[in-house]
Order: sequence, then structure tokens, then C-alpha cells
Amino acid sequence: MIVARVAISASARASSTWKPHADQPLKGRDVVTAGMFDRALIDWTLGRADLMGKTLKSNPDALLGVLRGKVLANTFMEPSTRTSSSFQTAMMRLGGSVLNLDDQTSSAKKGETLHDTFKVLDSYADVHVLRHPKEGSAKEAAAAADKPLINAGDGGGEHPTQALLDMFCITSELGRLDNLNVVLVGDLLYGRTVHSLAQLLAHTKGLKLTLASPKALRMPREVIEGLGKAGVNCVERTDLPSDVVAAADVVYQTRVQRERFPSQEAYDAVANDFLLNRASFAKLKKTSRILHPLPRVNELATDIDSMPQAAYFKQPWYGLVLRMTLLAGVLGRA
Ligand code: NCD
Repeated sequence: MIVARVAISASARASSTWKPHADQPLKGRDVVTAGMFDRALIDWTLGRADLMGKTLKSNPDALLGVLRGKVLANTFMEPSTRTSSSFQTAMMRLGGSVLNLDDQTSSAKKGETLHDTFKVLDSYADVHVLRHPKEGSAKEAAAAADKPLINAGDGGGEHPTQALLDMFCITSELGRLDNLNVVLVGDLLYGRTVHSLAQLLAHTKGLKLTLASPKALRMPREVIEGLGKAGVNCVERTDLPSDVVAAADVVYQTRVQRERFPSQEAYDAVANDFLLNRASFAKLKKTSRILHPLPRVNELATDIDSMPQAAYFKQPWYGLVLRMTLLAGVLGRA
């Protein structure tokens, strides 16, 4: 008994000290696209996130000084539960404060441009987070703002912080990033999380990537070309047979992005093509993981929730820790 107590307190002590790293490769930078991350920066970020997560568990008070006195302008012009809440919580757990804006209460409603909004927010905040329905909006806002800006989803474009948290979840749950068999499923056309995730996965070694989607929702050609240039072994298909599931280390399901379709008919034509349930995963290895950025609608049945491989309710915790790391990182304190 005594031996066990000593072991616990020693490991708590070891992980309770948070000191910013000597290198700060994210300091002062915008995080607009997953394309800015090479393998070294992915590894650095996930390494710092690992320590951040251990510290958050063992001694959360040790983190309250990291961003004390700093203010985040958290601007969400599209609905969000996880991303907005986790950025707010991340800032609070680092001792900083949050200014929340949305499309109803900000002057966007009066027709103010992104450029002007971010020029103004620059006077109030030390760091910006933006979610916006228009692809390219994060780049536009980042060009206007002097303070670092983090893209929390720009239309059907990218969602780099979701992709980083997915990588953090994968490496934490599977113990590695290399030599993985990954299957991305569902709406690969409008799903911004998979556009960013594919770019990060392209930096791993020995990757086998399957892209399973309805024909009308195939991964954009530029993402496929990027994967090709990186030498990724990538197969596109329009079904998800059990042998593909059996070989997978990660199955990443996505929601069909109803809000981005040109018409209800176009949505209805593909909405129910990839509905997964417990039976779909009958051959999944015990060590594999099922991920989903959430929210889910009907594409992932609730009978999967109790499977040991289901990791989608763990992703939000990885998201909190990863976003703490990014906020500290762009402010030079990760
Ligand atoms: C995703 C998004 O907003 O792109 N949600 C999230 O941030 N976790 C996925 C989705 O909306 O389907």
C-alpha cells in the first residue's frame, strides 16, 4: 500500500511542473491551415500537449499563470459546441480571459467586413479564434489582424485544430503515428476536418489511407494531389466492406455537412449512404479506434458508444488540451 502511494505522488510531482519550452516555434504565428505543420512541428506540438494534459490532470493550478492577463477574442459566426467551449475553457484553465462574439451580436450583422472587425478586435485581445461560414475567411482575418489568429473552421475549407486534436487522440490512444491504416468515411468533400487531417497524416510514415465516400462527396482533388506528392498510399472507394474495417487502425466517420449543400435534393441523395452501426464494426481489431469530430446526426449509431474502440467522447478532452497548447504556443508560452 505504501509503495503504491509513493509511486503516485512521485509521478504527480514529475508531471506537475510546467515550464515553457526553450523553443517556441508557434510564437506569434497564425494557425490558418494544417499545411503549416511539418512533421517536426506536429511532434513538437503533440509533445507539449502530452505534458500539458499530464499537468492538467495532476496539478491544474500549476497552469493558471501560463496566460494570466491575456485575452482571447473568440469569434464564432457559425454554430459550435465543442470548438467554442473548448477554446473558452482552454483560456480559462491557463488563467486568461475570453471575449465571446457571434454573428448575432457583433457588427457583422450590420455589414461590417472581416477586415474591419479584426482590425478593431486587435485593440482588445492578445489572440483571436475565428469560425466563419466562408472558405478563406480565416486567411482574410489573419491578414487584417496583427495578433495571432487560429482558424476554428472556415466554411468547407479547413479545421486545423480539430485535425491536430485528432492526431493527439490517435497517438495517445494507439501509442504511435507511423505505420497506421486509416479510413476516412463520409462527407470528404465538404468536411473541413478531413481536409486538414489528410494534410497532417501525409507527414506520417508507412500510412495506408482509404477514402470511403459517396462519389458526389469525394475528397477535393487538391487534397488528393497533395497526398500523391507526399507519396501516400491512398485508395478511394464508394463502400466500406468488412475487410477494410478489419484492416483499419483508425476509422474516422464524418457527418454529411447538410448546411453546405446547394439544395435539399442534393443532400437527400447522399445523406444516408454511410450509416455505421455496431455490426459495421464486427471485425474491428480490439486495438483500433473509432473517431468522429462530432456532432453526429445519424451516421454513427449509439450502439457503438459502448464499444471499447469508440474514442469520439474522448476526443473533446484531447481537444481541450491541444487548444490549451496552441493558445500558449502562439503566445510564446507552450
Ligand atoms: C466539425 C466542424 O465544425 O467542422 N465539428 C467540430 O468542430 N467538432 C464537424 C461537423 O460539424 O460535422
